[in-house]
Amino acid sequence: MNNKDLAELAIKAKERSVPTYSNFHVGAAILTENDKVFLAGNIETSSFSLTLCAERTALFKAISEKERKFKAIAIASDSPDFCPPCGACRQALNDLCGDIDVVMINGKKELKVSKLSELFPFPFGDKSFK
Ligand code: THU
Repeated sequence: MNNKDLAELAIKAKERSVPTYSNFHVGAAILTENDKVFLAGNIETSSFSLTLCAERTALFKAISEKERKFKAIAIASDSPDFCPPCGACRQALNDLCGDIDVVMINGKKELKVSKLSELFPFPFGDKSFK
């Protein structure tokens, strides 16, 4: 699966979002090392801080299915800007995936690819307290 195919799946995954309050639809597609893809959208609740981003929803779906190794995650929104993962998602992706490719897709279906380590260069991690 290449980045463009993964991006198409993330665009389609926007249909899974439940952005009841923000109306900002985000879709994510995470690719495992053995080429399985898990899809998710962002999910909002009336207690706003309990909202779960599309990225962490997709990641936690995969983790709960016992997947442990990942190659890439694609993130799509309808914004003219690219939708990078928020700080909390960067931490979760760093801890559970390592330095994967992050494929961002804007509303014009253009792609921007970064390594997670470029987006999150000086991470807190388990080595910080062991
Ligand atoms: N959101 C994501 O799902 N992923 C991101 O990378 C940024 C933000 C969601 C959270 C919330 O449901 C909405 O977008 C607005 O912040």
